[in-house]
Amino acid sequence: MEKGLLDGIVVLDLTRVLAGPYCGMLMADMGATVIKVENPNGGDDSRKMGPFVNDNSVYFANFNRSKIGCTLNLKNPEAKEIFKELVKKADVIIENYRPGTMEKLGLGYDVLKEINPAIIYGAVSGFGHTGPLSKRAGYDIVGQAMGGLMSTTGWPGGDATRCGTPMGDVLGGLHLTIGVLAALVNRQKTGLGEKIDVALVDSVASAMENITMIYQSTGRIPQRIGNRYESTYPYDSFPTKDGSVIIAAGNNKLYSILCDVMGKPELKTDPRFLEVRDRVANHEAMREEVSAWTMQHTIDEVDKLLNDAGCPASPVNTIDRMVVDPQIAGAREMFPEIDQPGIGKLHITAAPQKLTRTKAVPRKAAPLLGEDNASIYGELLGFDAEKLAELKEKGVI
Ligand SMILES: CC(C)(COP(=O)(O)OP(=O)(O)OC[C@H]1O[C@@H](n2cnc3c(N)ncnc32)[C@H](O)[C@@H]1OP(=O)(O)O)[C@@H](O)C(=O)NCCC(=O)NCCS
Repeated sequence: MEKGLLDGIVVLDLTRVLAGPYCGMLMADMGATVIKVENPNGGDDSRKMGPFVNDNSVYFANFNRSKIGCTLNLKNPEAKEIFKELVKKADVIIENYRPGTMEKLGLGYDVLKEINPAIIYGAVSGFGHTGPLSKRAGYDIVGQAMGGLMSTTGWPGGDATRCGTPMGDVLGGLHLTIGVLAALVNRQKTGLGEKIDVALVDSVASAMENITMIYQSTGRIPQRIGNRYESTYPYDSFPTKDGSVIIAAGNNKLYSILCDVMGKPELKTDPRFLEVRDRVANHEAMREEVSAWTMQHTIDEVDKLLNDAGCPASPVNTIDRMVVDPQIAGAREMFPEIDQPGIGKLHITAAPQKLTRTKAVPRKAAPLLGEDNASIYGELLGFDAEKLAELKEKGVI
């Protein structure tokens, strides 16, 4: 396999489930040597999370592909010393434990930076490593709730709603990745590493864009408004003969195209709809005008008519349609196939970064628990088969 952008960078990936593993996955697809370090007693929690094929977790397989894996019982004193030796050889450590867990193990950043001052230590947690709620455990749904996302997702009068995927975890993993990559660049100049402390809640809060700014600047508390957008209109789902279609005429040019395609050019100069702010203020009347047109067509007709003219529109894809879409699956190769031991052929989800010289691609199947113990401990620390057998016998690895 050709080398990636991060070739030569060694990452110790202590993460579990999604937020942290997502960061390690992106770095591994970009060619870093990502060593998944798992508790020999069961490993990553996601090994027990479905969907399963032949009792093997597809969840784990997706987010841990491209990594190699070893086991290490970090509660064992000998294992702690082994971990410190690994830290000397590594560039990056990532973890998503409850804050304080690494310190309890005697392996907090303050200890590790003494061993390797160039080490970059990335942590993602529910609330971050500072502040009164720091010690709380956190999952995605807590991040989405505390970060304000749930309060503005859903329909007027309906319950606050979790976004359909764990966006809090994914955002946390992305921000951890950005922080780690920036720290790697800075280390080239200074020779020093640092700690990156990312909270799921902060990551969600930072994604709340205009929703937060509306309150900060006007005092109005944004509510659930379905698929409508506070900042521009028409930008919504609209009814057609065979279901809902998305139209996003976000600026005056695109609105003008929409009016022409609808055969209603007079709406361009209608004083109720002149500027973005007018269309937002009069969104109900605007919706009636657009819906009257969309209801005469099918989803595919609206999609084609508008996109041919240059105005963004789309069907609301179900997952079965999305994964075979010729653009997403075909041209952009977002669902490559790997051969995962215990599972067989599996379409996983690719990294979305498409690079011109190097590739961010799945490089290998996810490791079985402790699969690479011999090569990792052999190559990095010089342990032979006898030593490995002894460590296994003592419950260290
Ligand atoms: C996910 C989460 C809620 C799980 O809570 P938890 O099960 O209490 O997890 P902890 O982080 O406290 O770690 C569990 C234990 O495993 C131990 N452990 C972890 N890796 C180990 C290893 N390799 N060897 C031995 N023990 C290990 C820890 O030392 C800890 O032990 P303790 O309970 O005696 O302190 C919590 O880790 C958390 O809030 N993480 C940050 C936010 C996050 O990433 N959420 C999930 C997003 S996908």
